[in-house]
Amino acid sequence: MTRDTDSVAVVTGGAQGIGEGIAGRLAIQGADVAIADINHETARATADEIAAEHDVGTLAVDCDVTDEPAVEGLIETVADTFGPVDTFVNNAGGAMGFARTWELDVAEWRATVDLSLHGVFLGTKHAVRHMLETPSGGSIVNVASINREAATDGMAPYCAAKAGVSQLTKVVAAEAGRHGIRVNAVAPGATRTPLTQESGLVEGAMGEAFRERTPLGRIGEPDDIADAVAFLVSEEARWVTGETLRVDGGLHIRGVQNYYDTLQAMFEE
Ligand code: NAI
Repeated sequence: MTRDTDSVAVVTGGAQGIGEGIAGRLAIQGADVAIADINHETARATADEIAAEHDVGTLAVDCDVTDEPAVEGLIETVADTFGPVDTFVNNAGGAMGFARTWELDVAEWRATVDLSLHGVFLGTKHAVRHMLETPSGGSIVNVASINREAATDGMAPYCAAKAGVSQLTKVVAAEAGRHGIRVNAVAPGATRTPLTQESGLVEGAMGEAFRERTPLGRIGEPDDIADAVAFLVSEEARWVTGETLRVDGGLHIRGVQNYYDTLQAMFEE
């Protein structure tokens, strides 16, 4: 893929997991990379590691993606440090709480949608505003999930938020295309990250079930997702916008099984 050493990238939730993989991959492409995360200590360690390994500029910014002034400040800080931001990856996301919809606490619904959809809206809003001011435009990639199309019992807010991410991706792609701004998404399947390892989602019986249903026969790694993101932001994807690319070893073909009891036990731990 074409290297772009003038590129300046922001990855939200980039301290660990898929975001860390994406930040490292964009650094290989030559980009200066800012990691925006609420876990500042880990974000700083990751930023330092990437800088040492890839000889690019890195920055850890303490930023909660659900906080609009913080997101605005993030982009200003990164632009002041490295120059105009041309790549913005809305990766931070997750599910808070687990219950069937009629048993779901409103606070859990709100917290999940706030992080996984509202946070993507805020990142997109301010990234586009910033990119509109630069003649070369830019590229945004949102991290959705296989759950944007799979109906997973007990995870209505997460599934709804991730479906919303795909639809938001299309609308903003349509709105911003004439300004040289491309907006795409990736939809990972089960991927090995601190989150899924700690929750047991990719280990033991659940891990085996995912492997069994995945045509390519293994659990995904952050680098699998990062390579797809690197493609979507690259010059090679110049004619791609509004797309949500499934990056799941084919898991969507068979679909996610109903794991309510196992998942419920995990969330209760
Ligand atoms: P993770 O939990 O391992 O890492 C998430 C990172 O986001 C952490 O560094 C955390 O501190 C940060 N974060 C959390 N809330 C934040 C906030 N309000 N503002 C800024 N940063 C925040 O998660 P993982 O597994 O790497 O997931 C990354 C993305 O990929 C999420 O959007 C998730 O929904 C999506 N995804 C993950 C899959 C998986 O199997 N791991 C599958 C499909 C989608």
